Amino acid sequence: MQPPTIRPPTEPLSLLQTIRAARRNVLELIPELAYKQPIVSGRMGARWHMVQDPVSLRRIFLDNVENYPKSEVMVRMLRPAVGDSLFTSEGDEWRWQRRAVAPVFAHRNVVALAPMMTATAKRAVERLEAAEDQAELVSEMLSATFDVICEVALSGREHFDAEDYGRAILRYFETAGRASLLDFLHVPDWMPRPGALLSRGAVRTMHRMVAAAIEARRKEDRGNADDLLDHMLEAEDPVTGRRMSPTDLLHNMQFFIVAGHETTALALSWSLLLLALNPAMQERAHKQARDVLGAKPAEEKDLEAMPLVRQVLEEAMRLYPPVGMLARNVRERDKLGGRDILPNDIVFLPIYALHRHRMWWHNPDGFDPDRFAPTEASAWDRYRYLPFGAGPRVCVGANFAMMQAHIILATVLARFQFEPIEPLPRPVMFMTVRPDPDLRLKITPVR
Ligand code: HEM
Repeated sequence: MQPPTIRPPTEPLSLLQTIRAARRNVLELIPELAYKQPIVSGRMGARWHMVQDPVSLRRIFLDNVENYPKSEVMVRMLRPAVGDSLFTSEGDEWRWQRRAVAPVFAHRNVVALAPMMTATAKRAVERLEAAEDQAELVSEMLSATFDVICEVALSGREHFDAEDYGRAILRYFETAGRASLLDFLHVPDWMPRPGALLSRGAVRTMHRMVAAAIEARRKEDRGNADDLLDHMLEAEDPVTGRRMSPTDLLHNMQFFIVAGHETTALALSWSLLLLALNPAMQERAHKQARDVLGAKPAEEKDLEAMPLVRQVLEEAMRLYPPVGMLARNVRERDKLGGRDILPNDIVFLPIYALHRHRMWWHNPDGFDPDRFAPTEASAWDRYRYLPFGAGPRVCVGANFAMMQAHIILATVLARFQFEPIEPLPRPVMFMTVRPDPDLRLKITPVR
């Protein structure tokens, strides 16, 4: 069965249609041309360009990165929740935080967190076993990855009401995320942005919980818990020796918690839907996981022997990149794909369209994890597959995300079989690409 997708607009949208589409689904703003051409430009308030060409993307992410700071609009949208954290800052403020945080996510530290990921994968299986013959997989996967991030970020959930926190995140995404498009299009400030107001309560809820957890750790003096919070309390810029202030810490931990579980849960959910739609591939992935694991949960040492499970995740993030679109401002005049790019133009990077582009992919809308086999993937241009971004601002948590997703997916696949339930969900993006309205699958335990 063909994976669900959206029908892109074939004609340019009016301002009103654009605003409506943005409230419904950001992916519906990507024109059909963007799936066929390297760059598409237009004007609506500001001049904008959508860039889907690996050569130009390399220039934006790496070779001329200073010219393309993160879009001020996106940053403004996130700042109430995550302040000037690593994700939202620029220039020197970004540089010192990146130097301080990078070692926290070094391979050695991430591997040390794997046993907690294994323990949470085991709990996910127990929850699925308790389900009747079907389950809503997004909430199951959110629960699993939230479990991981609470364990590794804060050594437990005592200070969190996971449900309250989860609801606050959703409210924030839906409100702040929807309002933002008006800003991109330079719609005047007097037009009300309901999201900004609605999201305030959600942000307060999230901050209160994270601050309580950090405060408890400071007081606890529990020696070395060896988790993310511990490493962040110790983090320091190797060049200047600067340490995180309590506010820096709060904003960064808050970002890790939101970024660390929502995106990974979506990669897992889409993987399960794709496998449910493709029983032959599911059988191959199940067999690989079962042969290596039997009925036990996956550990870090098992992962190398289950490459197909990882390829399924990679292919799921090609078809449904959790971060489906990025945006950048333009500082100085430049050329991309032979086109003049002017100061104050807006550059959109529609990762969703890049990953389904007719020029770069064979069978672009089809599910084929074998294209990620090492022999195949080593031949392509790295800049045509960018679920984690690239260059100096590449996702700092990519290894962490891949390890937890690999552990959870392998564990679940070894134990259950999944079948689709009609109607299938469609991909909808506000800040992340989610199955809408949710993802129900039939599940059968494998004895
Ligand atoms: C499947 C899961 C994930 C996906 C798809 C993802 C995607 C991304 C993308 C696309 C960017 C680049 C944004 C840009 O260039 O504008 C990014 C940056 C970032 N991500 Fe992730 N991410 C994931 C998981 C995580 C996790 C688990 C963490 C931390 C616990 C994390 C922390 C960050 C941070 C701090 C940045 C900003 C880095 C910087 O600007 O220097 N992400 N992520």
